[in-house]
Amino acid sequence: MTKKILILGANGFIGHHLSRRILDTTTWEVHAMDIAQDRLSEQLSHPRFHFFKGDIRLEQAWIDAHIQLCDIILPLVAIATPATYISDPLSVFELDFEANLPIVRATVKHGKRLVFPSTSEVYGMSTDEEFNPETTQLVYGPVTKSRWIYACSKQLMDRVICAYGQQHGLRFTLFRPFNWIGQGQDSLAAAHEGSSRVVTKFLYAILHGQPITLVDGGAQHRSFTCITDGVEALMRILADTSGLADGKIYNIGNPHNDVSVAELANRMVAIAAEYPALRESAAKVHFQALPGTDVYGSGYEDPRRRIPNIAAAKTDLSWSPEVGLDAALRSIFTAYDACA
Ligand code: UGA
Repeated sequence: MTKKILILGANGFIGHHLSRRILDTTTWEVHAMDIAQDRLSEQLSHPRFHFFKGDIRLEQAWIDAHIQLCDIILPLVAIATPATYISDPLSVFELDFEANLPIVRATVKHGKRLVFPSTSEVYGMSTDEEFNPETTQLVYGPVTKSRWIYACSKQLMDRVICAYGQQHGLRFTLFRPFNWIGQGQDSLAAAHEGSSRVVTKFLYAILHGQPITLVDGGAQHRSFTCITDGVEALMRILADTSGLADGKIYNIGNPHNDVSVAELANRMVAIAAEYPALRESAAKVHFQALPGTDVYGSGYEDPRRRIPNIAAAKTDLSWSPEVGLDAALRSIFTAYDACA
């Protein structure tokens, strides 16, 4: 059946990959908004892609009309870079929570289905071996550690959405990306300023033969997940007509790609050396260990480990991640190499 999907933040990392996959593999229509369109060149000429350039904070009338028009609402606009949680925590609360709340409420009002991005960060510094949406306690540091404003904002939105499900019958699915990586994640300009996430920062250092910073020595672990696997999980959530995904929270991550940040850095440098154009700069890279509070500021704290329990997504969506870490990293270098 043809569906109409509303994607707010369609030019973002998830939004541009997801909209392309929808147009390539389904007959669904995509209605989309973003403040920028530089990553949407393929989509913009597609007859089933309807784009409006605008800011979610200013365009309530357009958003309300399009929630009425569409079947599934995906509000993907958010700040998701830890450097900003420390340098400008209010902007994180204002965009990630305040600006998204009216969109959630309009989705309730019009009786539409909501698919909302939660985050692996909601688990905070839990020491559980695996993070489970049903059982893991959410552990944050003191209020002076502003790193947690993102996790708190997202957690509160998760709770508000669940409450709308309980009290107003909202049909919703929450998904929690675990360090999704891929081409087009953060811009290299953001990496230059220091505001991008780890893979783009390391890519920038490798391209310029600069030192790679290992925060707190790089002993902390993440489970890096290829964007193609993440988008496949989202496609299965969107395609669900059984109602099985309603009211569920899915961790979407790759537990087999659990590595330390130091290991990530080593692998990226080794893979870069496979590309003749990058070999010389990659050879100049060296590692420097710095305390997290020196790199980000005194509001920084960091989860030591973050492994997703993905049993619910496996059972309900018949989904499992397929792309190993090296293949995911190679796809990023190959995309860069093709544009260089
Ligand atoms: C991320 C972000 O909060 C969100 O993008 C997201 O919701 C969530 O977690 C996720 O993607 O699952 P984090 O994993 O800390 O948080 O994001 P990165 O900035 O990519 O950092 C990963 C690790 O690399 C951290 O331990 C950080 O200290 C380290 N790092 C980062 C370095 O060692 N060197 C750097 O130059 C940058």
